Amino acid sequence: MEPSAITEVLPLTGGVASDIAMVDAGDKRFCIKFALPKLKVAEDWHAPVHRNRAEYEWLRTAAQIAPECAVKTFGRSDDLHGFAMEFISGDAVSLWKKDLLEGKSDSARPAAVGGLVGRIHAASSRPDFDTAPFQNRDDFHALRIEPYLVFTAGKHAEVSSELRRIAESLYKTSKVLVHGDVSPKNILFRAGKPIILDAECATMGAPEFDVAFCLNHLVLKAQHVSSLRADLATHVNALWSAYAETVSWEPETELEARVSRLLPALLLARVDGKSPVEYLDEGSQGVIRDVSLRLLMTPKSTIVGVVDELLDTWKGDNP
Ligand SMILES: Nc1ncnc2c1ncn2[C@@H]1O[C@H](COP(=O)(O)OP(=O)(O)O)[C@@H](O)[C@H]1O
Ligand SMILES: [Mg+2]
Repeated sequence: MEPSAITEVLPLTGGVASDIAMVDAGDKRFCIKFALPKLKVAEDWHAPVHRNRAEYEWLRTAAQIAPECAVKTFGRSDDLHGFAMEFISGDAVSLWKKDLLEGKSDSARPAAVGGLVGRIHAASSRPDFDTAPFQNRDDFHALRIEPYLVFTAGKHAEVSSELRRIAESLYKTSKVLVHGDVSPKNILFRAGKPIILDAECATMGAPEFDVAFCLNHLVLKAQHVSSLRADLATHVNALWSAYAETVSWEPETELEARVSRLLPALLLARVDGKSPVEYLDEGSQGVIRDVSLRLLMTPKSTIVGVVDELLDTWKGDNP
C-alpha cells in the first residue's frame, strides 16, 4: 500500500508502550502498531523495540490455537518494528476494562479469559510446539521481572528475599507460552469471545505469571471501585476454574500455590514498583501495600485463601 492511499489516522490511547492507530486507506481499515523505545511512565524505563516481533508471533500463534478468539494479522516490518492487524470494532465489541468498571461484566468473561489463556498455555507446553520465536526471557526480565519484582524488592527489605526468589523462578521457568500482559485493558470481547491483544512481553515462561497478572487487575479494580468487591470471589473463581481445566503439564495444586504467592507480589508491585497503577489514591495504596506485605510474609497456598484475606481486609475497612 502506498502512503498516499491513507485517508485517515486516528491514534488509539490506553497504553504506554507503543504508537498505535486506526488507519483508513480508502474503504480498508487497519490497526497499525509500532513499538516505542522508551515507555510513557514516570520512571525511566527503556524496552527493546524488537518486542514488536514477539507480539506479532504471539498473535499469530494464538490465532492458530484459538481461531475464534483471534485478531487477523496483515504483515510486519522488521525495520520499523511495526505491524498491521485487523481493526476490531462494531456493536458487539467492547473493552473488558470499560465493562468491568461500569459493572457490566459477569463471570462468563473471566471464565472465557481463563479458558483461553489455559488453552494457549496447554498447547504451548506440548513437545512439538515451536518455541524458537519465543526465547525472550531477557526481554521479559526487562519488561516485567525487573520493574515489578526486583525494583520492588529494593524498596521493601522485609520481603525482598521472597520477591527475589519469585523473580528468579520466573526467569528460569520455560514451561508455556506466556503472554505477559493479560489485563482487562488489553482484552476486547467480540460477541462474547475474548480477543487478547498487546503481547509485547510474550516469552516461553512460567504459567503462573499470566494467571496472577490478570487476577491482580481484578483485585486492583475491586480495591478502586468498592461495588466490584461483592463479585470478586466469583470472578476470580470463574477465571481460575476455567484455566485449571486446561492444566495438563503439571499438578494443578502446585501451580495454584505459585499463583497464590505471585499475586501478592504483583499487588505490591503495582503500588511500589516502577509502573504503579494510576487510579489508586493514597489510602487505597496503603490498603494494598499492607495486605500484600502480609500475604508475602505469611503465604497462602490457594487462591481462595488470598481472596479471603482481601475480603477480610475490606470488611475491616468498611465495618
Ligand atoms: N486491533 C485492534 N482493534 C481495535 N482496537 C485495538 C486494537 N489493538 C489495540 N486496540 C485498542 O488500543 C489500545 C492500545 O493498544 P495496545 O496494543 O494495548 O497498545 P499499548 O502497547 O500501547 O498498550 C487497546 O487497549 C485497545 O483498546
Ligand atoms: Mg495495552
